[in-house]
Amino acid sequence: MTGERISADGGMETSYGFRQVGQGEKQALVNDVFHKVAKRYDIMNDVMSMGLHRAWKDAMIAALNPRKSAEYRTLDVAGGTGDIAFRIIEASDRKAHSTVLDINGSMLAVGAERAEKKGLSANLTFVEANAEDLPFEANSFDAYTIAFGIRNVPRIDVALSEAYRVLKRGGRLLVLEFSEVDMPLLDRVYDAWSFNAIPQFGKMITGDAEPYQYLVESIRKFPNQRDFATMISAAGFSRVTYTSYTGGIAALHSGWKI
Ligand SMILES: C[S@@+](CC[C@H](N)C(=O)[O-])C[C@H]1O[C@@H](n2cnc3c(N)ncnc32)[C@H](O)[C@@H]1O
Repeated sequence: MTGERISADGGMETSYGFRQVGQGEKQALVNDVFHKVAKRYDIMNDVMSMGLHRAWKDAMIAALNPRKSAEYRTLDVAGGTGDIAFRIIEASDRKAHSTVLDINGSMLAVGAERAEKKGLSANLTFVEANAEDLPFEANSFDAYTIAFGIRNVPRIDVALSEAYRVLKRGGRLLVLEFSEVDMPLLDRVYDAWSFNAIPQFGKMITGDAEPYQYLVESIRKFPNQRDFATMISAAGFSRVTYTSYTGGIAALHSGWKI
């Protein structure tokens, strides 16, 4: 389902965009992409999604409905430059705490700088670590969020098991990710935009089209709404549901640790 297969030398392969690569190689290539784009990541998000990522992220936080309490602790994995954690804290009237975890120090450095400017640093902890191996005890968090991150992780099933482990009983998983467009016409416009415009804008803004070629290819390789919901259930989550946004360009998946 995630494009995994065994390579000729017996190692596990997975997709890196439209190519098959070893799992370790994928992580190294992904890290290279985000080191390259970190400083321009936020502006490129607005350009690539024509600002829509803001509405999708707002909808994710509305679905989470963070508790307005200093006891409320969330983990934002693949948190990058902080968009999700900042929204959670604001929605909790600056009471909640969020740990922003990312494998990429360049992305976290941009996030920490933004947090400082917004006056949110006291509510945040930045942790450089891998989603597949979370440096936290079991049953630690009220919510686990991951936005546009999980398709970059080589072993998605391992990341989901880790999410389950670190959540408290009664805790909630929310995954925002690009998904399958299921709307005639929109799918063709979206393809043209993705494969022609996005890499070109990437080149204009960051000087390199390749990272954005990977991003659009990786979106097409990610499981559709139903298949991804099945993977979340397989990791142990209950009451798994999803909501498609903008004709399926993005989808929000939800699950509970009961
Ligand atoms: C597209 S960005 C998303 C950033 C942010 N969540 C947002 O919505 O703007 C994907 C992030 O996933 C991170 N990432 C990739 N592989 C990871 C892994 N194995 N563990 C943790 N983070 C990872 C990247 O470093 C990058 O910051």
